[in-house]
Amino acid sequence: ASSAEVDTSKIPVGGEIRVLIGGKPFFVRRRTDGEIAAAEAVDVSKLPDPETDDERLVPMMNGELNRAILVTSGACTHLGCVPVGPAQGSTGDFGGWYCPCHGSHYDTSGRIRKGPAPKNLPVPTYEYLSDSLIKIS
Ligand code: FES
Repeated sequence: ASSAEVDTSKIPVGGEIRVLIGGKPFFVRRRTDGEIAAAEAVDVSKLPDPETDDERLVPMMNGELNRAILVTSGACTHLGCVPVGPAQGSTGDFGGWYCPCHGSHYDTSGRIRKGPAPKNLPVPTYEYLSDSLIKIS
């Protein structure tokens, strides 16, 4: 399949769903209030790949941002390993994801913070089909 629908209401707070689309992994995470606050508090000018948290979110149908839901590629931007996250019991030094292949740490917005990966986890093309249903393509 070249797209996938994910019912975000099924994701526990602080957890994530992993989906494969055309063999490529993607993460859909429901962030805690603390994780959202951490993502927003970052001084973006100091990041290796500067992006605000807002820039990494796609609006819902009503035009508002659902700050709890973060959708990213699940392929480390270093050499493509799949980082571990909350379901694997390790979220790295910045609370997001950790790539054990060579030690890259991503924050709660999926931005690279430490290690050899050069770029943030990319945000794929996706849209809200309802308040809770998203379609990643
Ligand atoms: Fe993730 Fe190298 S592939 S750190």
